[in-house]
Order: sequence, then structure tokens, then C-alpha cells
Amino acid sequence: MTRALSSIACITLIFLGFSKVNGQLNSTFYDSTCPNVSSTVQAAVQQAIANEARMGASLLRLHFHDCFVNGCDGSILLDDSVNITGEKTAGPNNNSVRGFDVIDTIKSQVEAICSGVVSCADILTLAARDSVVALGGPTWTVQLGRRDSLTASLSTANSNIPAPTSNLSALISSFSNQGLSTQDMIALSGAHTIGQARCTVFRTHIYNETNINSTFASSVQANCPLSGGDNNLSPLDLQTPTTFDNDYYMNLMSQSGLLHSDQELFNGGSADSQVTTYSNNQNTFFTDFASAMVNMGNINPLTGSSGEVRTNCRKPN
Ligand code: HEM
Ligand SMILES: *[C@@H]1O[C@H](CO)[C@@H](O)[C@H](O)[C@H]1NC(C)=O
Ligand SMILES: *[C@@H]1O[C@H](CO)[C@@H](O)[C@H](O)[C@H]1NC(C)=O
Ligand SMILES: *[C@@H]1O[C@H](CO)[C@@H](O)[C@H](O)[C@H]1NC(C)=O
Ligand SMILES: *[C@@H]1O[C@H](CO)[C@@H](O)[C@H](O)[C@H]1NC(C)=O
Ligand SMILES: *[C@@H]1O[C@H](CO)[C@@H](O)[C@H](O)[C@H]1NC(C)=O
Ligand SMILES: *[C@@H]1O[C@H](CO)[C@@H](O)[C@H](O)[C@H]1NC(C)=O
Ligand SMILES: *[C@@H]1O[C@H](CO)[C@@H](O)[C@H](O)[C@H]1NC(C)=O
Repeated sequence: MTRALSSIACITLIFLGFSKVNGQLNSTFYDSTCPNVSSTVQAAVQQAIANEARMGASLLRLHFHDCFVNGCDGSILLDDSVNITGEKTAGPNNNSVRGFDVIDTIKSQVEAICSGVVSCADILTLAARDSVVALGGPTWTVQLGRRDSLTASLSTANSNIPAPTSNLSALISSFSNQGLSTQDMIALSGAHTIGQARCTVFRTHIYNETNINSTFASSVQANCPLSGGDNNLSPLDLQTPTTFDNDYYMNLMSQSGLLHSDQELFNGGSADSQVTTYSNNQNTFFTDFASAMVNMGNINPLTGSSGEVRTNCRKPN
């Protein structure tokens, strides 16, 4: 009996511990203070994607690059200033991340309906989900209540965001360092079913590596010369770059991953079977992607009275 009671007490403590780790995010956080935030963000994201279909990809990636640097705290949105060295010029971000104007537009619309209430970090999380939905992907319930950082970290952006030259074990440990499983990593990589990459990040893969489909390699080489054209773009999913589907995994199985890191997920290693599953079953991919996005959104949020709700996403109040 005593033993039963103490294990109940122990389990209760574990549960309290876990809810604390996740920083008390919940899906109803703004229900009384800004009931229209979701519809406002969704409409603005739909408008931005109607203006430019690639924007959905760019907003999704911004959320990822935010969360991997000291948690999902809007740090990536901060501009460089006399007081702050931002993350925008970090290697993985410089000349690459985009969508800041769209976030500014959404923020000003949200400020207009409920001033000083909704954080930039939450806006980015909602915008990432709405982007996936707008491009035909799965939906999920977004956990809310993140607050915005007062600082940014260029060096952490450089060390934590995985590089396109990464091998499978480096990808696994990069995600594991953020508390994300290998299964989450493989599912989240399916985000590369949308968006574009610059020649400079895949040149070596398409010219110098052997685990690549020669027909595919020739077709992307056409717009990515051996020298020059560093910023020329190629779709991460050649077939449907503005549709969120499971083509990414089918591409990997025909050795047509654009990045070295993409093809690492189907290269005779431990990720092959999950890639095969997702290529055969889009619903399984969608379910796992949605759940992995919630996990990524839970990385180390600022909650309670930590941080602040920024008025302008580009600078602390
Ligand atoms: C697994 C490790 C990952 C690596 C090594 C990686 C690397 C890259 C690189 C190099 C680019 C092209 C950037 C450029 O050339 O400007 C890119 C684009 C992109 N990444 Fe990833 N990525 C990874 C995971 C993710 C995750 C987890 C997400 C989101 C859940 C994501 C979403 C995107 C999107 C949507 C784009 C296209 C962005 C656009 O068109 O603006 N990536 N990624
Ligand atoms: C959501 O979180 C906030 C802040 O922690 C809290 O005030 C609110 O009661 C929570 N709502 C639910 C339904 O748990
Ligand atoms: C909330 O949005 C709905 C439609 O999306 C609108 O009818 C309503 O007036 C809005 N409410 C507030 C308080 O802005
Ligand atoms: C930098 O910090 C100082 C002191 O907090 C503040 O007065 C100033 O407005 C800040 N400058 C910028 C550009 O944020
Ligand atoms: C970022 O890109 C710009 C423009 O290409 C370049 O001048 C600058 O040196 C880069 N910054 C860093 C930190 O690499
Ligand atoms: C993977 O990359 C890491 C870091 O670059 C390196 O230390 C490791 O030896 C590589 N592993 C394999 C199996 O190639
Ligand atoms: C291919 O590899 C050779 C030998 O390592 C190297 O000199 C060359 O720069 C590489 N080319 C590309 C496009 O990466
Ligand atoms: C290479 O790509 C083509 C066109 O997508 C495909 O038909 C072929 O099966 C692929 N080859 C291999 C070895 O996967």
C-alpha cells in the first residue's frame, strides 16, 4: 500500500516535471485575450502565399531556425542593432532566410486587434502551421503562450542549425540535442517537399557525389554551374515545390534528394525504412510530421514572466 502510494506520488511528480519542461504552453492561451488571433494569422498567411507561393516554405523554415537557437522565442526575428548581434547573418541564415516582412505585416494586424498580447514567437508558430495547411499539408493544434527573447545568439545559430553537408549521425545528434527523436528528424525533413535551395548548398552533391540519380543530377546542373551562379535556385522537390506532399521521400528513393543531407536519409542506413514508409503512405507522414512540429514548437519556450511580448518583432521593447 505504502509502495503503491509512493509510486503514485512519484508518477505525479514526474508529470508535474514534464509539464514544467514544456513551459505551460496550451492551445487556449489567447482565447480570452485575443480570440481572433488564429483567424487573423491564417488570413494573412493565405494572402502572403497567394502573392508568392514560396513564402509558405520560407515561413516554415523561419520557425525551425528560431526553435533550434535557444528555443522558439522569436530570436531569429531580431535585427542587428547597436545593442544586439542578431542571427540573420549566421551561416545557415545569411542570404537565405526570408519572410520577415510578412511576419511584420501579420504582427501589425495582430497588434491592431489586441495590442501587446500576442508574442512574435507564437505568431511564427501559427504561421508555420498555416503555411503547411495552405500548401496542402496536414493540420494540427498549435500550442501557445511562448514569449519573446530579449536577445539573440549568432554563435548558437551557427552551431545548432544543421548544415546541408551533414551525415546521418550528425543530423540525428543535431535534433537529439534539441530533445527531438530520430523519427521526428526524418519526419521534419519532409518539409523539403516545398521551397528552394541555392546552388552553393548543393553543388558538391550534384557534381561530386555518387549516390545521386544521373538524370536528376544533369537536370539540376543545368541551373547550377561548376563555378558561378551561387545564388541560383532549384526546388528541393523538383515535381511539386509548392505542394506539401510525400514526394520528398519518393525522390530520396530514386536518389534524387537535392542536398547531401537529404540523401543521407536514404543511403543504406538506419533511416531507410522510415523513408520507405513515408514514400508509401502519405497519411503516416502527415501524422508524424504534425506531431513532430508540435514537439519542435515545444523546444525551450519562454513562459510566464520570462522574456516579453515584443511590440515590434525586429527589436526588444
Ligand atoms: C534535417 C536537417 C536540415 C538541413 C541540413 C536543412 C538545410 C536546408 C538548406 C541548406 C536549405 C536551402 C537554403 C538556401 O539555399 O538558402 C533549406 C531550405 C528549406 N528548409 Fe531545411 N534543412 C533541414 C531541416 C529542415 C526542417 C526541420 C524544416 C522545417 C520543419 C526545414 C524547412 C526548410 C524549407 C521549407 C526550406 C525552403 C525555404 C525557402 O524556400 O525559403 N528544413 N534547408
Ligand atoms: C493556459 O496557460 C495559461 C498560462 O500558463 C493559463 O493561465 C491558462 O489557465 C491555461 N489554460 C488552460 C486551459 O490550461
Ligand atoms: C473576429 O473575426 C471575425 C471573423 O473572422 C469577425 O466577424 C469579428 O468581428 C472579429 N472580432 C473581433 C473582436 O475582432
Ligand atoms: C540600446 O540600448 C539602450 C540602453 O538600453 C537604449 O537606450 C537604446 O534605445 C538601444 N538602441 C537600440 C537601437 O535598440
Ligand atoms: C552575409 O552576406 C553578405 C552578402 O553576400 C556578405 O557581404 C556578408 O559578408 C555575409 N555575412 C557573413 C557574416 O557571412
Ligand atoms: C559524420 O560527421 C561527423 C561530423 O562531421 C564526423 O565526426 C563523423 O565521423 C561522420 N560519421 C560518419 C559515419 O561518416
Ligand atoms: C570535387 O572534388 C574535387 C576533389 O576533392 C574538388 O577539387 C572540387 O572542388 C570538387 N567540386 C565540387 C563542385 O565540389
Ligand atoms: C532516376 O530518376 C528517374 C526519373 O525520375 C527514374 O525513372 C529512375 O528510376 C531513377 N533511377 C534510379 C536508379 O533510381
